[in-house]
Amino acid sequence: MTNKIAVLPGDGIGPEIVNEAIKVLECLRDDFGFAMDIDHGLVGGAAYDASGSPLPEATLSLAKAADAILLGAVGGYQWEHLDIAVRPEKGLLGLRAELELFSNLRPAILYKQLASASTLKEGVVAGLDIMIVRELTGGIYFGQPRGIRTLENGERQGFNTLIYRESEIERIAHSAFKIAMKRDKRVCSVDKANVLECTELWREVMERVAKSYPEVTLSHMYVDNAAMQLVRAPKQFDVMVTTNMFGDILSDCAAMLTGSIGMLPSASLDASGKGMYEPIHGSAPDIAGKNVANPLATILSVAMMLRYSLNEAALADRVETAVGSVLDQGLRTADIYTDDSQKVSTSEMGAAVVAALKV
Ligand code: IPM
Ligand code: MG
Repeated sequence: MTNKIAVLPGDGIGPEIVNEAIKVLECLRDDFGFAMDIDHGLVGGAAYDASGSPLPEATLSLAKAADAILLGAVGGYQWEHLDIAVRPEKGLLGLRAELELFSNLRPAILYKQLASASTLKEGVVAGLDIMIVRELTGGIYFGQPRGIRTLENGERQGFNTLIYRESEIERIAHSAFKIAMKRDKRVCSVDKANVLECTELWREVMERVAKSYPEVTLSHMYVDNAAMQLVRAPKQFDVMVTTNMFGDILSDCAAMLTGSIGMLPSASLDASGKGMYEPIHGSAPDIAGKNVANPLATILSVAMMLRYSLNEAALADRVETAVGSVLDQGLRTADIYTDDSQKVSTSEMGAAVVAALKV
């Protein structure tokens, strides 16, 4: 069966890093018999410039028809003045919502070769392996009502709504518990139940769903404490499950533990396991076009795609091993560079992964 992959490079460094990921896919096709068909689409600012919409109909149907989607990044300074409804970020949020990609997996794994690249002491991060499960299609990101209104006295007021239905909490809870069953069987649910009713319900539903997974230990943590614990003693965590916004924030924080946000892939899955794969970092407009961005998070996203949506676990292992091997060789893009390593460009890093794949 031919795997249909929709590729949406997006903005900023998106096209550069996606290019390297495509080289990896092409190597899997040419050398390892991976049957695939790649189709490109526009999303984000690039799509807005071409069509006036950050998520054109053509891109949405391409994404819907695909077996899996690979996305680079969206956003950039030149689109920041636009109305929020057509900003690049809306393209990404629209894809998540339209495809019901509610379960966002963000693994924070420290490659042992990068222990010295982390801003934290080696002893604190060595061996780090956390899975953050972020709810991706609900919460304050999508809650209605929202907007900016003018009050009677003429003052403006901005407002958003943090809102979760029980069924939305249940399904993300099941995602987290199922993943924990394949790991160390510990789930820490992160909320702000001491202040927000919405997350009081979140906590209650987590407790309820936990009963179906007697082997898994569930704990709860307030989000402020969780942020502190992530930098104090991150290895205490196995699976963390949390709301859309808390997950956005905590996953950036967890990324830094691994040396660089340029290392972290993600999977966004629907109920059937179809998914969109993207690095968790943004479009980094300040370094776009300079061939210095780290393509490894995108390449590792390809590995997640092979594993979670395309049922190609052996190829996923191969890609991850190749990434480990280029790190062993001492190759580093600028974001993970240390004195004792060799600095390489985006394209050199991609080529090195391809070469390692062929070994
Ligand atoms: C992420 C990003 C997005 C988010 C932005 C680009 C809309 O920060 O995937 O973490 O906030 O979800
Ligand atoms: Mg983010």
